[in-house]
Amino acid sequence: MVRFTRHDIEEIYRSHPLRKDTILQRVLQQKGTLAGLSEQDLAEDPWTEISDQNHIGGLGFTRELGVQAGLESSSRVLDLGCGLGGSARCLAWLFGCHVLGLDISAERIAQARELTELLGLQSRVTFECADLMTASLHSTHFDVLWGQSAWVHLEDKLGFLRRWAPALDRKGCVAFEDVFLIRLPATNAEENLVAELENHWKSYLVGLDGPAGWSRILADCGFAASLSQDCSEQLRDHFLKLQLGASRAEALPVSQLEQESWRLALEAVDAGLIGYFRIVAARRSAGQSQ
Ligand SMILES: C[S@@+](CC[C@H](N)C(=O)[O-])C[C@H]1O[C@@H](n2cnc3c(N)ncnc32)[C@H](O)[C@@H]1O
Repeated sequence: MVRFTRHDIEEIYRSHPLRKDTILQRVLQQKGTLAGLSEQDLAEDPWTEISDQNHIGGLGFTRELGVQAGLESSSRVLDLGCGLGGSARCLAWLFGCHVLGLDISAERIAQARELTELLGLQSRVTFECADLMTASLHSTHFDVLWGQSAWVHLEDKLGFLRRWAPALDRKGCVAFEDVFLIRLPATNAEENLVAELENHWKSYLVGLDGPAGWSRILADCGFAASLSQDCSEQLRDHFLKLQLGASRAEALPVSQLEQESWRLALEAVDAGLIGYFRIVAARRSAGQSQ
């Protein structure tokens, strides 16, 4: 039985502090106007962390992953679990490439389109509402399958990659970052902590052996990692910044539920239970071992 439904996922993002209205309100508070709005305005907020980058490491991680995926202006990127489309717009802005973003939440997709239209990026950045576990393949072939802090929501990660690997061009790569469980919980208290975190995030941490587990899934689908990087240091920083941002006088209110998920995440980071990784993987060439 599926533990988290489509409805559960839609619910957490409906009340999420990062939304089109909170981001635009924040920009308005800081700049006094939305005239001349840029993607950088949406993506960077050193004071309250209210940005369109709904992942660890913000704009910096999007840029770094884009460089490591070898993006250039001719690249076609498929952003799987694109949320508000922050990464998609940044990639178009920074690398000049074309991006199609897919997300299960119709509300997120509507907001992603509206923010993109505000910047006039809609000729290079488009969105469709789709469940990554059931959607049929797009006719276009892509150079990069992209994911940031999204695939942790998917229970059957092998089924997911098998479904989307054929959308990738022969020379394309998979480039993604996500949270993972560093070690199994050792006590009942730790087990409860991880279960509570999974429940708050509507995500599956247990059952996948982190980056090593992903490497096996990638190998099963014919890929080999060219880069596997531990980015866990940024995790603690991320949740501390969110807490600090929410406590500032000019900050917009954040629900108790969301603040509780930050507290749980920090507890799990401090206990050495969760980390964050980045992987870039290309198709194995004939004769290359797994
Ligand atoms: C933490 S957000 C990350 C959004 C975006 N990648 C970013 O970095 O800003 C995770 C996103 O995954 C989406 N998602 C979760 N399960 C999904 C599914 N089965 N199909 C499509 N999207 C899904 C959620 O709706 C949410 O927008």
